Amino acid sequence: MLCRGQTSSVTVLAPAKLNLFLKVLGKRADGYHELETLMLSVSLYDTLILSDDPSGRLSLSCRDGGSHSGPDQRRELPGAGPENLVMRAAALLRDCAGRSPGARIELVKRIPLSAGLAGGSSDAAATLAGLNRLWNLGRTRPELTQLAAQLGSDVPFFLCSRAAAICRGRGEIVEPLALAARLWFVIARPQTGLSTAEVYRHCRPSSIGWSARELARFLDRGRLRSAAGLFHNALEEPAQRLSADVTVLKRAFARQPFAGHMMSGSGTGYFGLCHSRRHAVQLAARLKATRLGDVFVASCRP
Ligand code: C5P
Repeated sequence: MLCRGQTSSVTVLAPAKLNLFLKVLGKRADGYHELETLMLSVSLYDTLILSDDPSGRLSLSCRDGGSHSGPDQRRELPGAGPENLVMRAAALLRDCAGRSPGARIELVKRIPLSAGLAGGSSDAAATLAGLNRLWNLGRTRPELTQLAAQLGSDVPFFLCSRAAAICRGRGEIVEPLALAARLWFVIARPQTGLSTAEVYRHCRPSSIGWSARELARFLDRGRLRSAAGLFHNALEEPAQRLSADVTVLKRAFARQPFAGHMMSGSGTGYFGLCHSRRHAVQLAARLKATRLGDVFVASCRP
């Protein structure tokens, strides 16, 4: 996450995430699922522009950041009401501030919705970090992380100091990971999305024997094919049952020479790991030609 400015306006870039590994260990008493997941933040960004509002009000406006390549003319936008995670993050931080500063928040959306790319969670984390700076609150990263966990399972990851992490619990326990080299991806999102809660409702615990750590070791040594052999997402199978689009996209990716490919999070977003930027640009062009949805090239910087 990149945060700029500090007097009357702060701009924050909120990245999307990919799950290269998502093992469901079981269902918990609180209804959530216990996870072990390897997440990367990638260079597909929403932008948040946060400005002081002397009236003391909190307000949000959303607009389409363009740059989408799919058959849809217009991107779906989230609601801008109090239910939006950005507004919930702003209200939560303000409650802890001991005073009532206001902010106008402009959210420029590029990360597709309902795609397993955690756009909403990333926007919430960016709001916490950005308003902490705008309002000069001096909250520490652990303090912000604690608030983040109240907003959603994926939110704390985006406050982590590194671009990669192994996350546990319901996703909120974040262990930062060092990566040796930049990784390149093609990301696609079909025309329909899926509800995270719905996908989790249909999932079963993973039965695989390996861990995220083994996958991380291959990634760190630049052994992309070996790493891709350990890709796992327990949510892909239920997502395929709920959305034929995921299966269609999977087949389209399988026809291209990716180092590996898989669905991200609860879908319907899907990604392919590439050997270089050039490789990613080439395969993205082929996928765009299928007109199955929006297609992006993005990277993860160590
Ligand atoms: O935490 P978050 O609000 O993003 O989660 C959305 C939904 O996804 C939850 O209400 C829950 O149904 C499901 N979920 C889950 N186990 C997790 C994370 C999310 O069952 N570890």
